[in-house]
Amino acid sequence: MDNKIKQRVVLFLNLLMMVTAQGFTEINVSCVYNSICILSCSFRYEADVLHWDYITWTGHVNVHSYYENKDQFEDQDPRFNGRTSLVEDQVTGRKTSLMLKNVKVQDEGKYKCFADSEKHGYKTSTVVLQVDAPVQRVDMVRAGNSATCSSEGVYPKPELTWSSSPQSSSTVQQTEEKLYNISSSLKLSDMDGDLLLSCTVSTRLNKWTTTTTWRNPIVTTTSRAQISCSYTNTSFMDFNLLWRFKHTHVIMRWNRTDGQHVSAQWKKHVEAEKVSDVLHLQDLSSDQEGTYSCELSRAEETTATHTLLRVDIMDTQKYIKADVWSVVVAMVVLVIVLIVVLVYRCWKHSKSDPMRGQPLERGRVQNNEQEMEPMRKNNSEKINKYPETMKDAV
Ligand SMILES: *[C@@H]1O[C@H](CO)[C@@H](O)[C@H](O)[C@H]1NC(C)=O
Ligand SMILES: *[C@@H]1O[C@H](CO)[C@@H](O)[C@H](O)[C@H]1NC(C)=O
Ligand SMILES: *[C@@H]1O[C@H](CO)[C@@H](O)[C@H](O)[C@H]1NC(C)=O
Ligand SMILES: *[C@@H]1O[C@H](CO)[C@@H](O)[C@H](O)[C@H]1NC(C)=O
Repeated sequence: MDNKIKQRVVLFLNLLMMVTAQGFTEINVSCVYNSICILSCSFRYEADVLHWDYITWTGHVNVHSYYENKDQFEDQDPRFNGRTSLVEDQVTGRKTSLMLKNVKVQDEGKYKCFADSEKHGYKTSTVVLQVDAPVQRVDMVRAGNSATCSSEGVYPKPELTWSSSPQSSSTVQQTEEKLYNISSSLKLSDMDGDLLLSCTVSTRLNKWTTTTTWRNPIVTTTSRAQISCSYTNTSFMDFNLLWRFKHTHVIMRWNRTDGQHVSAQWKKHVEAEKVSDVLHLQDLSSDQEGTYSCELSRAEETTATHTLLRVDIMDTQKYIKADVWSVVVAMVVLVIVLIVVLVYRCWKHSKSDPMRGQPLERGRVQNNEQEMEPMRKNNSEKINKYPETMKDAV
């Protein structure tokens, strides 16, 4: 149990060193929230006994220990449970670096490495860990006469600025994970024309700018429409492109690596072969009326455009129905008019000349030609007797 005693001695020495540690070199390390972090112990030799401790206000807690040729977890503080392991130091090639997984904001602080070996004796080094949750997106929404800019899950405390003045104050909230949500609202004065707003959220590590344009509505009177995405000159090829309908339904995505993807229900409405930042719509009906939003994004910037599309063509189904009905009505009216005219003429002629009614009966009696043959001859004779003037009139 030589090692056990040794590690006790080391622990005791640790405490001593902590008190007198002022002046020892500290290494600053910055790690991204929820990622893997490597803390290096600056030794050039393999240690027989190695402790990584986290320094708190009140003392220190064990993060990871190694002695008797294996990792030791009995003293490990529960907050580091299952998140630590020792890895080879990139510089020295010795397995003395601490790998910490799923880094939390609470992991920020001072870490001390204590090492001892038969050959080289006792050494310590300190690492100061800083955690950053970078700004990953900034959203801008408009409701009535105000616009709100917001970002979530940022650390440390971010700042928000609007491109326009007057500046509006922002609200910051801290989540359970100690990350910050920030938001700010801007009152909009009544205005005509396109509205363009830009907002930036920045923190220690990075910043993100979102520029949003709300366009005047577009009206289409045909089943086709084109909606363009941005005002900028930069090629959309440098961005990830996303088209949405009514803010929620994804119409199309495009990026350099994966190419274009049109969602199934929009396949018939999108002219997919035309890849550009202009959305070519076809086969439109009133169902496709609504806001079309385009989002161009890449690291640290997003450009969004919202365009309301009005489809002002008669619905094809309704159009056909209306047409059928007007034809039916027209035919009924025509038939009635014909009947009235015929009845009127019959009545008029039978009144002025009783013989005039007879040709109407001809059709009816034609089936029985033989029987009626004499009568027909009779009729034609009578018609032939009409005066020349009457013939001209007919
Ligand atoms: C580490 O960070 C602290 C505060 O952030 C700073 O004062 C110090 O100079 C830094 N040390 C090194 C070695 O960069
Ligand atoms: C912060 O934003 C996250 C993500 O949208 C949300 O789940 C959480 O409730 C927000 N927390 C606070 C305190 O606003
Ligand atoms: C866009 O490009 C044109 C010429 O191609 C140039 O005159 C104009 O200033 C550019 N606009 C912006 C916003 O870069
Ligand atoms: C490209 O788009 C796909 C989804 O359509 C996404 O999974 C991927 O991360 C995107 N690539 C880049 C570089 O953003």
